[in-house]
Amino acid sequence: MRITGILLGMGIMATNVIAESPVVIAHRGASGYLPEHTLEAYATAYAMGADYIEPDVVRTKDGHFICLHDIHLDATTNVETAFPDRAREDGRYYAADFSLAEINTLRAEERLNNRFPKGHSSFEVPTFREMIELVQGLNESTGNRIGIYPELKQPSWHAKEGLPMEEAFVAILKEYGYMDRDSLIYIQCFEAEPLQKLRDELGCRAPRIFLMGAGKLSDEKLHEIARYAEGIGPSKQMIESDPGLVERAHQNGLRVHPYTFRVDQVPSKYPDVEAELRTFFRVYRVDGVFTDFVDVAKRVRDEAEN
Ligand code: G3P
Ligand code: CA
Repeated sequence: MRITGILLGMGIMATNVIAESPVVIAHRGASGYLPEHTLEAYATAYAMGADYIEPDVVRTKDGHFICLHDIHLDATTNVETAFPDRAREDGRYYAADFSLAEINTLRAEERLNNRFPKGHSSFEVPTFREMIELVQGLNESTGNRIGIYPELKQPSWHAKEGLPMEEAFVAILKEYGYMDRDSLIYIQCFEAEPLQKLRDELGCRAPRIFLMGAGKLSDEKLHEIARYAEGIGPSKQMIESDPGLVERAHQNGLRVHPYTFRVDQVPSKYPDVEAELRTFFRVYRVDGVFTDFVDVAKRVRDEAEN
């Protein structure tokens, strides 16, 4: 009911096809307005006209994929009060230590200050399946073609915990029709090996994005990345410090989707996020942007295209 209300209130955008113009990726949903990785945040991002919606995914103790940015539950749920005795020695509460039934009893909460008010919500932690079913259901009911952009979070850590990600993840992709080169999906990861495995061992042809946080990428490195990914997801700073990166990535056949554009976290060199976005669209010529504020990025993207 809440989701329906959001969609009716905001109005579904007109036909929204995957464009050749830069794509707007809803980072953790419409996380600038609602607690990240909730169905409400995903539905709002959809209604705002995102091209792709991002769930970060981790596994529960019983192997389910849930939408959560961290391997920990404590930054965005009430796990500490609900399960006070379940922290590890480091004081953190790991999703991998909880069953889905237990996680279903938690309340998802806003991570950041000065966004959605904390303590005034009853959001839940969705499963990856629920996220997919929401987006595919909306695609069917609206006639739009919006994609998903899942990030496998720390696959090597999960493997050490006895919860390897790749095969179980691909089983879900198969079930929901995201295995082909032209499927409405990008699969992202900070680790190269899982991206290689998806294609080479598990037969998934869907486009992959290799994420990076820092450092300079040589032409040799870009050439190597192009063997296991169709694009890169660098931090914005990597492009700011190496503006030729986008062109060099393009020369290697790689798309470039930098992260993360936020109204409330703008680098001091820009007066506002609109100016920052304009620079990335018009000057750096990126192929897409991750943003917590889909409505703003979409407006700037559309203006830049006209
Ligand atoms: O996936 C792109 C961007 O989301 C990576 O950063 O930490 O927000 O997942 P993070
Ligand atoms: Ca992410």
